[in-house]
Amino acid sequence: MKLATPTYDLKNYSSVYEPREDTFLLLDALELENVYLKNLKPLFALEIGSGSGVIISSLSFIFEEKCLYFATDINPEACLATLNTASLNKCNVEVLNTDLSSGFINGIFDLLIFNPPYVITESEEYYTQAINKSWAGGNQGREVIDKFLRKLPEILSKRGICYLLLLKANDLQDVSNVVGKLGFKSKIILERKIIGEYLFVMKINR
Ligand SMILES: C[S@@+](CC[C@H](N)C(=O)[O-])C[C@H]1O[C@@H](n2cnc3c(N)ncnc32)[C@H](O)[C@@H]1O
Repeated sequence: MKLATPTYDLKNYSSVYEPREDTFLLLDALELENVYLKNLKPLFALEIGSGSGVIISSLSFIFEEKCLYFATDINPEACLATLNTASLNKCNVEVLNTDLSSGFINGIFDLLIFNPPYVITESEEYYTQAINKSWAGGNQGREVIDKFLRKLPEILSKRGICYLLLLKANDLQDVSNVVGKLGFKSKIILERKIIGEYLFVMKINR
C-alpha cells in the first residue's frame, strides 16, 4: 500500500523541522511494514519529536479510527505545527509538549516512532535555539538517542514495536548492543545513502 504524504504548511512555524530525507525514509519504513502493522493492531501509537506532524498523521491513514494517536515534542511550536497538520488531514492526534514520553503512564504504546536529533555536534548546540533540538545530537549524535533508549522498556507495551531513525555515525552495532542489554531485538529494515548522510531505520521489539 502506498501511503499518501500528508498535507502540511509550516509558514507560521519557523522553528519547526521541515520534512526531509530522514522523515521520508521513516514514512517508507511504515509503508514497508504496513501489513505487519495492520496485523499488530496497535491500540496506542506515539511519535516522539513529531516536528511538522507528517509521520503521525500518515500513521493514522493506516489504522484510521482503530488506534489512538499521540505525539510529543520538546519544541512548543512543533506541537502546534503537529496539531495543524493533523487538522489539515482530518486526523485525531493528541499532542503533548514534553521531553520524550514524560507525562504518559508506562507500558501503553504498541507502536513508537522517533526521528531523533542525530547529528554529531557539541553538546551545548542542542540548547542554543529551538530548531537546533531537531538535529543537534551531541557526542556521537547519541545524547538524546541514549536517553531515549534507557526509557524504552518503560514506554513500550509488551508487544510494542519501535522504529528509530539512525545515522551510520551513531554506531548501529553499539545501539543494537545497548537495546540487546535492555532485553530487545533489533534489525535494520531500511537504509538510504544521501549526500553527506547514511540513514537507517532500526526496528526494535522484545
Ligand atoms: C529530526 S526532527 C524530526 C521531526 C519529524 N518527526 C520528522 O521526521 O520530520 C527531531 C524532532 O525531535 C524533537 N525533539 C528533540 N529532542 C526531544 C526530546 N527530548 N523530547 C521530545 N522531542 C524532542 C525536535 O524538536 C524535533 O521536532
